[in-house]
Amino acid sequence: MIYAMLLLAGKGERANNGQYKQYIKIKDKELFLYSLDEFCSNENIDKIVLVCNKDHLEYVKTITKKYSKIDSVIEGGTTRNLSVHNGLLKIAKNHDCDYILIHDGARPLISKKIINDNINSVKKFDSVATFIEIYDSIIEKNNDDTIGHYLKREKIVKIQTPQCFKFDIILKAHQNIDLGELNKYTDDAGLVMSFGYKIHLIRGDIKNFKITTENDLDILKKILE
Ligand code: CTP
Ligand code: MG
Repeated sequence: MIYAMLLLAGKGERANNGQYKQYIKIKDKELFLYSLDEFCSNENIDKIVLVCNKDHLEYVKTITKKYSKIDSVIEGGTTRNLSVHNGLLKIAKNHDCDYILIHDGARPLISKKIINDNINSVKKFDSVATFIEIYDSIIEKNNDDTIGHYLKREKIVKIQTPQCFKFDIILKAHQNIDLGELNKYTDDAGLVMSFGYKIHLIRGDIKNFKITTENDLDILKKILE
């Protein structure tokens, strides 16, 4: 079975608009429902686990009641990696997960192509992350706001979610890491890679950006208009 895990347990502090960004209504639909709808309509995804803040468990269960693929809504942790950790341990209890696709609930514009490319690749390569090219110059900046030096742009890309793994590989990584060490990793691929696995990359899309600031919310509204 292929599971998708949608992460919703963040506080959205950088969006700074007094609301949890994942639950803001955009065109009459909560932000996280955009990616949830993509998962539900995708025939390659069998089950979905939602991970959210303890205080939002009932709310999330209520607004997602009609989604039959949802296996469970579970409590997240204080950091993103701990939220993933809790989700993986919950899924492990079902004993039926072969592959897991992990996605930020704050990236509403995931596409069918990105999901399918992740799933097709994970069956071949076991560990997959999504990337996009960078078109700007990339520099290292000095503290005095001058340019330190230019980095070689051809080799630098940005990593997005989804990231997709053979379930046993990422579960073992989480079972074998000291939880205090988890925050060294900024994403799931980084953690899995630290256990010696190669991460295959598939191309994402600039539209699959992460809503981080208030400005991102304005851009999202314009795209959806
Ligand atoms: N996330 C999570 N559990 C956490 C922290 C983050 O499930 N303890 C989720 C967020 O809900 C989001 C994704 O991980 O979908 C990416 O995190 P980020 O963009 O940093 O969102 P927030 O942590 O909510 O935002 P901020 O860092 O600005 O507070
Ligand atoms: Mg965060």
